[in-house]
Amino acid sequence: MSITLNSPLDMHLHLRDEEMLSVVGPLSSESFSGAIIMPNLVPPITTKEALISYKERILKACKGNTFTPYMTLFFKPTYSKEFLASIKDELTAIKLYPAGITTNSQGGVSGFDVDELRPTLDAMSELEIPLCIHGETNGFVMDREAEFVSIYEMLATNFPKLKIIMEHITTKESVEALDKFDNLYATITLHHLLITLDDVAGGMLQPHLFCKPIAKRPEDREALRKVALEGHPKVMFGSDSAPHPQHAKESCGCAAGVFTAPIALQVLTELFMEHSSIDKLQSFISSNARNIYSNIEIPTKTVILEEKNFEVPGKYADVVPMFSGETLKYSIIKIT
Ligand code: DOR
Ligand code: ZN
Repeated sequence: MSITLNSPLDMHLHLRDEEMLSVVGPLSSESFSGAIIMPNLVPPITTKEALISYKERILKACKGNTFTPYMTLFFKPTYSKEFLASIKDELTAIKLYPAGITTNSQGGVSGFDVDELRPTLDAMSELEIPLCIHGETNGFVMDREAEFVSIYEMLATNFPKLKIIMEHITTKESVEALDKFDNLYATITLHHLLITLDDVAGGMLQPHLFCKPIAKRPEDREALRKVALEGHPKVMFGSDSAPHPQHAKESCGCAAGVFTAPIALQVLTELFMEHSSIDKLQSFISSNARNIYSNIEIPTKTVILEEKNFEVPGKYADVVPMFSGETLKYSIIKIT
């Protein structure tokens, strides 16, 4: 039996820049129709010029693949309505990082004071620019996301017209928040559907599974699986595929990020098949995003997978993927 996916989308992706971009750009752009591109470069993307030239570098790295990079800006509470209006046609969303919470987020938001954020968030609401958020406080690592839910709720209440996307959710508390507010949506990664903290640190430490937010408890994974596998309309696939060179992962002070871009569609197919939910994969991988991000145009691409072993390379250049060296059950056999 073959599985056909139409125009798969990755609604949260790190493509980096320069050499790393030249390695990972072709891998995502080959099998995905488009992706929301994270702006946490050094320095982060905060100007129209930087955004446009990053988009050009991405397209060049993608070597003619049919692929649209949906660009984002790194949130600053000082963006004026005039500035946002001038850049609106070039960008799809704005990504908010709490200061210092993850890779290259030092220039993020410290303190969530509504009055301080209001001018930019009001402008985004009026211009219909969605807000993507890395939702973690700087509390105890296992509680950071659950503690952030009250901030999501505060923002959702104060800015009812703003589409707020809770990025890479990992907890049952975030899943519960989804249905409480019309304007809250979420992305879910592949790795958070598969692993718990036990897989990261329960035996020998697994640096290639270390990411932010850290994988949580079995009951959290269950809550994520439920909404992904039922094709919940407010939930989209966002890989958060976050490549780091091998030495930065396998070192004292391991960088956060799991590299899943080249294996995501194969493993999602296996997961949805295993749970007799393959009819819902199209919603999770594309249609829900199309409905949530009403501001995107999606190139047509058809990806066909079959039950056929796929040997995951040990490395792509200097980046170790999830399931490195293992055999997956499904392969991509055709992309048109
Ligand atoms: O694990 C992560 N890696 N989480 C993030 O939020 C950022 C990402 C990265 O850029 O490496
Ligand atoms: Zn990310």
